[in-house]
Amino acid sequence: MVDFQLLASKLPTRVRNQLESYMEALEIFREVRDPKVLAALGPSGIRGMLLQRGKQGMPTKIRSNHAAYFDWSYPHDHPEMAELYRRAKRGQWDGESLPWDTSVDPLNPEVPLLPKNFVDLSVLDRFGVHLNESEQLKLGHSMASWMLSQFLHGEQGALFAAAQVTESVQFFDGKFYGATQVMDEGRHVEVFHRYLETKLGKLYQVNDNLFVIIDSLMSDSRWDMKFLGMQIMVEGLALGAFGLLYKMTKEPLLKELLRNVIQDEARHVHYGVLALREHIANHLTEAERREREDWAFEVALLMRNRFMAYEVFEEHYEGKLTRAQWREFVIASPGLQEFRKTMFSRLVPNLREIGLMSPRIMKRYEEAGLMQYFGGLSADKLTGDQMIQELDEQSVALVAA
Ligand SMILES: [Fe+2]
Ligand SMILES: [Fe+2]
Repeated sequence: MVDFQLLASKLPTRVRNQLESYMEALEIFREVRDPKVLAALGPSGIRGMLLQRGKQGMPTKIRSNHAAYFDWSYPHDHPEMAELYRRAKRGQWDGESLPWDTSVDPLNPEVPLLPKNFVDLSVLDRFGVHLNESEQLKLGHSMASWMLSQFLHGEQGALFAAAQVTESVQFFDGKFYGATQVMDEGRHVEVFHRYLETKLGKLYQVNDNLFVIIDSLMSDSRWDMKFLGMQIMVEGLALGAFGLLYKMTKEPLLKELLRNVIQDEARHVHYGVLALREHIANHLTEAERREREDWAFEVALLMRNRFMAYEVFEEHYEGKLTRAQWREFVIASPGLQEFRKTMFSRLVPNLREIGLMSPRIMKRYEEAGLMQYFGGLSADKLTGDQMIQELDEQSVALVAA
């Protein structure tokens, strides 16, 4: 019998790491229990994780296949969406109006992008990697740039998904609203990219897991799957992540940028809840509802467990640490643990609200330690202002603690 461990240990580091990343990709798909979910995510998994289509250094073409829904009678068919459309028009802002003249030094310890205890350096010490002050700041710079790069790539996905959903949604009031979201997402791409390019001077490639999710949403022909994936899962998780970064960072330009983006995102998730609650309750069979419920759970886990910042590892630590050691470091990092928690506190109440948390699936959320968020407020009950106020109160509490 072949001893893979032994074989792998004899390979050059680069090849070994590549092999390990393939094994991890296989592992992820072995964990997906539902065959329909596997069939839906599988081809995207091959494109994202094995072929690494997002990392070839050239633009990616993803074929989409959905029906554009025209209605020549222009019905006033959804008052709550019409109200959200009015609110979105009033809430527009110009990305250029942010205080771009703020001077940002990502290596300045006085104004840290991330708090010092975001990572646990004692884990690295244990593996024989000791970072001095300037190396620690460099790591903080890399981690912040990596997170913001993934936000940016997610925003590009959101921009195209919002355009597709605007074409295919059947509510005319939803199409009006959707037009504002396309503008919002365009502005988010603009401001995140400008921040990375002009202030941090770094841009990381798209993370494989994020690529898989985006690829699968772009290519799914069902509008409600695009909606569920983008408006509820990706946007819901992003909203949690933006909130936490807003709370943690001391860099004033980034804080202001995130405050503005959070206001928009709160509307986007609200729209997702409105459209899907109605659709899932009235237009899907029980089998279709169940498929979405399983899909949402698997994608949630995919996102929670697999954002390991390997791109940062490859940049600084390949050859000094194994991938397994890096993973241990990331999992133990207090900042990223907090990220995972905050993201789900926003997501789980929305899944409940749209009818994708039946007792059948609750057991699995319970096993994954996510049921503690079940009682939270869903996005249709929370405005962007309330979210910001809540975050501000929490940061005061953090400082006082
Ligand atoms: Fe966005
Ligand atoms: Fe959004």
